[in-house]
Amino acid sequence: MKKKFVAGNWKMNGSLASLDVVKEISVEAQRLRASLDTIMYLPSLYIHHFIEKEDIKIGAQNCHYENNGAFTGEISAEMLKDIGAVSVILGHSERRTGFHETSEMIREKAQNALKHNILPVICVGESEEQYRGKLSIKTVAEQIKSSVPENDGNIAIGYEPIWAIGTGLIPELNEIEEMHYTIRETLSSLLGKEASEKVNILYGGSVKPENAREIAQVNNVDGALVGGASLKAKDFIHIMNAFS
Ligand code: PGA
Repeated sequence: MKKKFVAGNWKMNGSLASLDVVKEISVEAQRLRASLDTIMYLPSLYIHHFIEKEDIKIGAQNCHYENNGAFTGEISAEMLKDIGAVSVILGHSERRTGFHETSEMIREKAQNALKHNILPVICVGESEEQYRGKLSIKTVAEQIKSSVPENDGNIAIGYEPIWAIGTGLIPELNEIEEMHYTIRETLSSLLGKEASEKVNILYGGSVKPENAREIAQVNNVDGALVGGASLKAKDFIHIMNAFS
């Protein structure tokens, strides 16, 4: 059986003093490692420092599609590899909306990450308006088709309904099941069945200790992408255990 995968997305939060939180999570990640992959996605500035101090997999929250050059303020997948990061979140809705990232850009970024052996976690998700208009399935299937590069199943997908991020709201469990099934089928038509089955499809958006266990039981949910609750070791460890 495929290992589940829990990802902690700190967004623009944390400081050097947060090493204590990473330390606690790291101990639990070691304990659960036979049944669970845990990766912490920290602000890029702290990645190297924390990699040196703690034995835990660390990723970034974005990278460029080029390796280097005149791109002020950017970092590349090649650089992430260089400092020992293992993964990158790409196309988070906060980047798609706040920084005008298109699915085509995200596909190029993912392609380059794969070239450097950095696991891309490609994010997709519908807006509240699309959800209300019953356009979720169509929207997400289109995002998958245009954001996922050719690969052998060595990517992960984060399904995050935009209206569920940071709001405390989550879809009905049957809606999550239907969406994850659609994502798997779409991946299967793009990459082939065998590759699609290797992909961890994570649910994200208000995953908390209180709802993690029920979400973890849903078919085709292979893990969680956790924002707010990953900033507190106790809450995140609870979620890790629900998925392990
Ligand atoms: P949340 O964020 O868990 O705070 O809702 C999830 C995310 O944006 O990745």
